[in-house]
Amino acid sequence: MSKFLKFPLKLKFGYSAYYFFWFLHTMKFYFFHLYNRIRLTISGVQTGKHFSTSGIIILDIFPQSRVIIGNRVSIISDSRRATASALAFPARLKTISPTSEIIIGDNVGLNGTSITSRSKKIEIGSGTMIAPNVIIVDSDFHPPWPPENRLHYPGNEYDGEVKIGKNCWIGMNVLNLKGVKIGDNSIIAAGSVVIKDVPSESLAAGVPAKVVKSYK
Ligand SMILES: CC(C)(COP(=O)(O)OP(=O)(O)OC[C@H]1O[C@@H](n2cnc3c(N)ncnc32)[C@H](O)[C@@H]1OP(=O)(O)O)[C@@H](O)C(=O)NCCC(=O)NCCS
Repeated sequence: MSKFLKFPLKLKFGYSAYYFFWFLHTMKFYFFHLYNRIRLTISGVQTGKHFSTSGIIILDIFPQSRVIIGNRVSIISDSRRATASALAFPARLKTISPTSEIIIGDNVGLNGTSITSRSKKIEIGSGTMIAPNVIIVDSDFHPPWPPENRLHYPGNEYDGEVKIGKNCWIGMNVLNLKGVKIGDNSIIAAGSVVIKDVPSESLAAGVPAKVVKSYK
């Protein structure tokens, strides 16, 4: 075997390989974080202290819409940094009109979370943990009826504010649809589709999500 092939094999079986790639990834994350910070600042997004990102966030902020990110918020947008599972998509923050709002409280963790506010406010309370691949929207984006209107009529009147309380835990692959409020300290089980309000201190699960346990 040539010297060229032996070098990576040697690395592969030692700690040196681990630390070598750890260093490369750390450099990559610093670079992407800088890129995210620049994009957020240019887009007028307010960010708090000790805000961290991993991987590139998809950012599409409509002028005059309001996006506020609290202190010690972490936005993970790269599978390597996500503990529980690979990310099906990068984290995304999108506002579509001047009345759109995304408000993220302190100590919130987002993991490949997609948040799209078309015309209303989407608020995530302080201390809430959002597991990988959660989608949160304030709109259906098309009116359900009549069918000929679906493509061209926006149907903004159906949009509804979303409020996720403080210290909630939103499980993997949850879909959080328009107009829903989740009370403080509640849990949404993995794979649930939330279409109705969930009271505080409860566990909601399933499609559609229903309260299956109360911690009160
Ligand atoms: C939310 C969760 C932690 C609850 O666990 P738990 O307290 O052990 O809940 P239980 O197993 O006692 O379930 C309570 C009820 O909810 C139901 N349930 C739990 N998870 C469910 C799910 N994902 N979908 C549908 N129903 C579910 C159970 O069937 C049970 O119903 P039953 O009382 O009629 O039998 C767990 O269900 C879950 O979703 N884990 C994934 C968390 C995650 O995404 N982690 C990623 C890292 S942040």
